Amino acid sequence: MYKIVSVLVSLLILLLLETCGNDALQKTKTGLDKASISRGKQLFQQYRCVQCHGDDGTSGFADLSKTGEKYSIQEVKTWIANPSSMKPGASMPAFNMLQDEQVSDLAQFVISLGE
Ligand code: HEC
Repeated sequence: MYKIVSVLVSLLILLLLETCGNDALQKTKTGLDKASISRGKQLFQQYRCVQCHGDDGTSGFADLSKTGEKYSIQEVKTWIANPSSMKPGASMPAFNMLQDEQVSDLAQFVISLGE
C-alpha cells in the first residue's frame, strides 16, 4: 500500500514540475517569449515610448504594428538603441542608456504588436 502511495505522489510531483516548466517558457505563436513581452510592455510605459507611439504602440507619430514584418529582432534592438544607425536623420531619440536585456524586452514587445 505504502509503495502505491509513494508512486502516486511521485507522479503528481512530476506532473506539477511539468506544468511549471511550461509556464516559465511560454511562447507566442511566432516564438516570442511571453515573459519578455510583458516586461517590455512595462518598459514601454516607463521610458515614455508611449508619448510618441501611443499607449498601445500603434497610435502615436509612428505605428509600430508593422515593425515586426519589416525588421528582425536584432534590427528592432538596433532601432531602439540607436535609431539614426538604422535611418539617418530619424527623429526618435537614442535609448542607448538601456541594458541589453531591457532593449531585448522592448523589441519583443514591439514585434508582438503585429501578431
Ligand atoms: C520623441 C518621440 C519618440 C520616443 C520617445 C520614442 N520614439 Fe520610437 N520612433 C519615433 C519616430 C518619430 C519614429 C519614426 C522615425 C522615422 O521613421 O524617422 C520612431 C520609430 C521607432 C521604431 C521603428 C519603427 C518602424 O517600423 O520603422 C521603433 C522600433 C521604435 N520607434 C521604438 C521605440 C521604443 C521602444 C521607444 C521607447 C524606448 C521609442 N520608440 C521612443 C519617435 C519616438
